[in-house]
Amino acid sequence: MNFKDQVAVVTGGANGIGRAIALKLADQGAAVMIADTNKDAAIITAAEIEEISGNSAIHATDVTNFDLCTELAALTADSFGPVDILVNNAGIAGSSGWHSRSFSTEEDWKLTYQVNVIGISNVTSAFRSQMQNSRSGRIVNIASIAGREGRPGLPHYSASKAAVISLTQSTALEFAPLNIRVNAICPGLLWTSMWEEVGSRYTENNSLYKGMSARQVFDAMVEEKIPLKKEQTPEDVADAVCFLVSDESRNITGQTLNVDGGFFMR
Ligand SMILES: NC(=O)c1ccc[n+]([C@@H]2O[C@H](COP(=O)([O-])OP(=O)(O)OC[C@H]3O[C@@H](n4cnc5c(N)ncnc54)[C@H](O)[C@@H]3O)[C@@H](O)[C@H]2O)c1
Repeated sequence: MNFKDQVAVVTGGANGIGRAIALKLADQGAAVMIADTNKDAAIITAAEIEEISGNSAIHATDVTNFDLCTELAALTADSFGPVDILVNNAGIAGSSGWHSRSFSTEEDWKLTYQVNVIGISNVTSAFRSQMQNSRSGRIVNIASIAGREGRPGLPHYSASKAAVISLTQSTALEFAPLNIRVNAICPGLLWTSMWEEVGSRYTENNSLYKGMSARQVFDAMVEEKIPLKKEQTPEDVADAVCFLVSDESRNITGQTLNVDGGFFMR
């Protein structure tokens, strides 16, 4: 795929899945803006992109802050021109200390919804006029298989990701007359810093996993849950993003694609 002369923004692009998406888009020729609260990590990822394509910038965006999102949109336009590709990837699994608790607090509910759902709405709104003018925008929201079905453990996280799937459909319908396509991806099990914390939560709170390391819990879950018997990688998700923002998917909008080795088949 070729994204030469296109401008991409990746929220949460400094680490994990977002980093892989940013690197892949740069590898295919896009200029990439990394929007992340973690400025130090964003600088490192931007330096990697510079080596690939020489075309990167960063903004210390907190997606929960609409003013910062507006600033991000203005900086992107000034640095590269209007955005073509927006990847809403920034996400959290709870408020401070969530992985040491066996229950969700009110703060977990509030902050997780603010980042995972309202954050997507904030960034999308901030870039709306740029995409509207070019009439060719493409948006991918990163949801999760946790949003496909209710289950115990992290109800606030699952509910927020179900909301991302619904938000994707609403935005796709709203933006279709503007020729802007909006899709979502549900990643499966990926060994990132987020899953390291998920794993430690299992070892601390679930007697089934006592004495195991976070990585051992992860491997056990891959073995038990994933029909293809292999973990997903950030690069797997990045490849799916590239398809959904390319011309090859020109007639696809409002869809949610599982990248999960067959975990969910709906
Ligand atoms: N790791 C998995 O197994 C998995 C599975 C399904 C879905 N996901 C989703 O994929 C996305 C990326 O997850 P990851 O595993 O790479 O996590 P990660 O923790 O490794 O990276 C998340 C990035 O988002 C940034 N971020 C957090 N809050 C932010 C905010 N308010 N504003 C801007 N940036 C912010 C962090 O600084 C970090 O760079 C998330 O939406 C997550 O819910 C992950």
